[in-house]
Amino acid sequence: MKRIAILGSTGSIGRSTLSVVESYPDRFQIATLAAGNNTELAFEQAVRWKPRILSLANEQHAAALRARLRAAGISEIEVVHGAPGTIQVATHPEVDFVVSAIVGVSGLEATYEAVRAGKTVGLANKECLVVAGELITAEAKKQGKPLLPIDSEHNAVHQCLRGGRMEEVARVWLTASGGPFLHTPKSQFASITVQQALNHPTWKMGKRITIDSATLMNKGFEVIEACRLFHLPPERVQVIVHPQSTIHSLVEFVDGSILAQISVTDMRLPILYALTYPERIPSDLRFSINDLRRLDFCPPDLDKFPCLALAYEAAATGGAKTIALNAADEVAVAAFLDEQIDFQDIPRIIEEVMAVAPAGRLESIQKVLTLDTEARLLASAMVKKRRRKGSPIGAIS
Ligand SMILES: NC(=O)c1ccc[n+]([C@@H]2O[C@H](COP(=O)([O-])OP(=O)(O)OC[C@H]3O[C@@H](n4cnc5c(N)ncnc54)[C@H](OP(=O)(O)O)[C@@H]3O)[C@@H](O)[C@H]2O)c1
Repeated sequence: MKRIAILGSTGSIGRSTLSVVESYPDRFQIATLAAGNNTELAFEQAVRWKPRILSLANEQHAAALRARLRAAGISEIEVVHGAPGTIQVATHPEVDFVVSAIVGVSGLEATYEAVRAGKTVGLANKECLVVAGELITAEAKKQGKPLLPIDSEHNAVHQCLRGGRMEEVARVWLTASGGPFLHTPKSQFASITVQQALNHPTWKMGKRITIDSATLMNKGFEVIEACRLFHLPPERVQVIVHPQSTIHSLVEFVDGSILAQISVTDMRLPILYALTYPERIPSDLRFSINDLRRLDFCPPDLDKFPCLALAYEAAATGGAKTIALNAADEVAVAAFLDEQIDFQDIPRIIEEVMAVAPAGRLESIQKVLTLDTEARLLASAMVKKRRRKGSPIGAIS
């Protein structure tokens, strides 16, 4: 029986993980859970899964959940909160496997501590690898534990890499659906609405990653993620637009052979792969090969989607530049979702923040968090400067 901790249990990946656990009750058991502000769903999950510990984002939510559990006659669940609470969830002695699926840098400390505690980690949270990939992969190596990618592209690469040795890899190809604006002329980008940007053609995901998919920043993060996970320089990680999202990624070997991974567009499959690795077990997540008609590919348009070019730049420089890239993106995406800035302001703000970010290597997670805070403040100031006339004064202040 594998005992699982889920960081971000109320999110899209968290719920998919619970669905996988539910399908294999003889293999997996929920040990601990961490969520943010969704106390309603956290309560339902606590009642259904009876974790040892459940953490919420703040004391207020934790107190409310404690009271509800008491009223429901449930007393055995310890309810904690904040970053220390999430770390407790990730490092609990009864946990064998941690699914890291908190969105953004909020998941970083707990993910790093899970690795440090010798847990096997399934990584959905790409921001962790973007901002602190060097530190996390070095620690996993020290612990002798694999970091198993849940992000579908890296999961696909991980699967294809089983077909050869690392020294035999020429390059990795990450496929991109192209997002909802693949065929939208650049001249129309100024009028893109939040609703249009949230309308992803193939995947149903959280809001931030959906907007990141529309700007191709998500693919940029994935380039950095691949560089860190598979120890490849950026020029050996290529992006190819593949609108059907049928092939999740490819690995090209030195002899010219290319291995591709195909499966349903359902995150439960990479989650199942990570949870059972190195085994493969039967599932009903079947891909109907008979329905496969066409596979289209084209190179990404870096002029239309400058976020991808910015990510390549950050991947090459590393360190603080990747922190600035992620922090500025998170702030700018929140401001766009809040209708404070235009779609095209997202790359502009990121570029401005990256331009002033220091270069250099990172020696600790604390340093990463400090640089992250600085980059966020800078990005928030830039949002203020660009704020649309008459836009609501929202969370970005
Ligand atoms: N969804 C996908 O298909 C997909 C695919 C590949 C990679 N990923 C990556 O996986 C991660 C999660 O994505 P998602 O789509 O599942 O996001 P999501 O639906 O927005 O869920 C985010 C989760 O993080 C929790 N959270 C947010 N802030 C928190 C905090 N301060 N402390 C504790 N928990 C906090 C949320 O809790 P509340 O809801 O309770 O506030 C929620 O459970 C992201 O890094 C994303 O890039 C997602």
